Amino acid sequence: MAVPILIIHNYQASGRETPENMTLQEPATTGGEVHPSGDERYLSIDRTMKQSKYEKDSLLEVLNAAQEVFGYLSRDLLIYISNQLNVPMSQVYGVATFYHMFTFEPRGEHNCIICKGTACHVKDADRIIQALSEEFNIAAGETTPDGLLSLTIARCVGSCSLAPVIVLDGQVYGKETPENVNRRVLEAVSRSKEELAQPMEVG
Ligand code: FES
Repeated sequence: MAVPILIIHNYQASGRETPENMTLQEPATTGGEVHPSGDERYLSIDRTMKQSKYEKDSLLEVLNAAQEVFGYLSRDLLIYISNQLNVPMSQVYGVATFYHMFTFEPRGEHNCIICKGTACHVKDADRIIQALSEEFNIAAGETTPDGLLSLTIARCVGSCSLAPVIVLDGQVYGKETPENVNRRVLEAVSRSKEELAQPMEVG
């Protein structure tokens, strides 16, 4: 696997430590545990690493745990994991970018992954992307300004016999047409808009 190199400014590897711009203020506690970052979500990642005895082979599992609790993999998170597992940052970044399920920016409330692997590409995945982009006025890789929808591109989601394939909020849909996908995504986004428009109950 070709591993892309990430250049990180002002970062010195120096053993197990917190990311450089963690805020060391009010320590957070969970069941008596305190994380020096003040963000208790790191405790969950620490637990995963402890369970695997900080084995380098647990990198994928740890990245998964990190995305589960944070929703996406920030640069700080990647640095933290690199330090804690003592794995070079280039390797952490290489693994994280190899798998389509990892994201590096906060995603919208709904995430529509459009597969652009070979099988889906020859079955006109580009038309699906174009239809979604026109409908929601965002390009692939972007999130709508209201934060309700992200469009994500994947290389292959492992269901090639169903090409073209999309994954909407974790659900796989195959043999899709641009019209079908637009309808599905519109329904999902409209449901969220309706929920937002509900008057809040007071008291
Ligand atoms: S190429 Fe799209 S699922 Fe494999």
